[in-house]
Amino acid sequence: MAVPLRVVRTVKALRATIAGFRSRKSSIALVPTMGALHDGHISLVRLARRLARRTVVSIFVNPAQFAPYEDFGRYPRTWKVDIAALAAEKTDLVFAPEVAELYPEGFATRIAPEGPALAGLEDKFRPHFFGGVATIVAKLLIAALPDIAIFGEKDYQQLLVIRRLVRDLALPIKIVGGRTVREKDGLALSSRNVYLTPDERKAAPILHRTLQESAAALVGRGSLAEIMAHGKMAIERAGFKIDYFEARHAETLVPIASPKEGPIRLLVAAKLGTTRLIDNLGVPLKRS
Ligand code: PAF
Repeated sequence: MAVPLRVVRTVKALRATIAGFRSRKSSIALVPTMGALHDGHISLVRLARRLARRTVVSIFVNPAQFAPYEDFGRYPRTWKVDIAALAAEKTDLVFAPEVAELYPEGFATRIAPEGPALAGLEDKFRPHFFGGVATIVAKLLIAALPDIAIFGEKDYQQLLVIRRLVRDLALPIKIVGGRTVREKDGLALSSRNVYLTPDERKAAPILHRTLQESAAALVGRGSLAEIMAHGKMAIERAGFKIDYFEARHAETLVPIASPKEGPIRLLVAAKLGTTRLIDNLGVPLKRS
């Protein structure tokens, strides 16, 4: 008979359940999410199951990482579907707190990340974002104290901010990046793709295509400035308004002027109508 999925709503219950897992010597992987789960999240849950004995998934739409004018209120919430998907994946535990559990009355302590959080990419357009992410991720990690925590590479800058956070706070947790899952036409899966109109959905794969073409041109030793200018034009021609399309050092996110300064990560954020999409791609290292 299928075992019902265990859901806890408080930090106390989360800790007690994880202590039970630990008493049976189980390793723990945590997959933090904001729900509205898609195959990208499910691939992270599967990775967690491969890397640890017990998988814990948190579902919490974190108000602190949304600006007042952003989509916190209308962010997709698909609880029943999410729970069914996690049960099918044999997830051991779901942590789904109310806002007041993680931000109690009088909450007054926030983390202000620097380094990769101030790279001039997402932070330039969403200045509140990484403070909110770092604060909630630190809270989740400290509450669960997993061996491993898994985050999608689609939010590449976020992944680097979290790696830095864990190092700086000396948390004994390994951060693992999960590869980006894409639709057949290359569009990176995202909970926000549901906002796209049919026409926007048709145009959206140009982001990934441009990343691929630019990466290939860089491997072919083309001029970085020309390749990036060409890529920008292609994205704009498809109807996007670009926030950034940049080549950065893959580990530090420092801007680079020549492919020799790599390893390179190409990163893009652009708006199609009212929907903002982000994506990124590593440029394979040359073998010379
Ligand atoms: O990537 C996300 O879904 C969120 O930013 C995270 C890491 C769960 C924090 O709320």
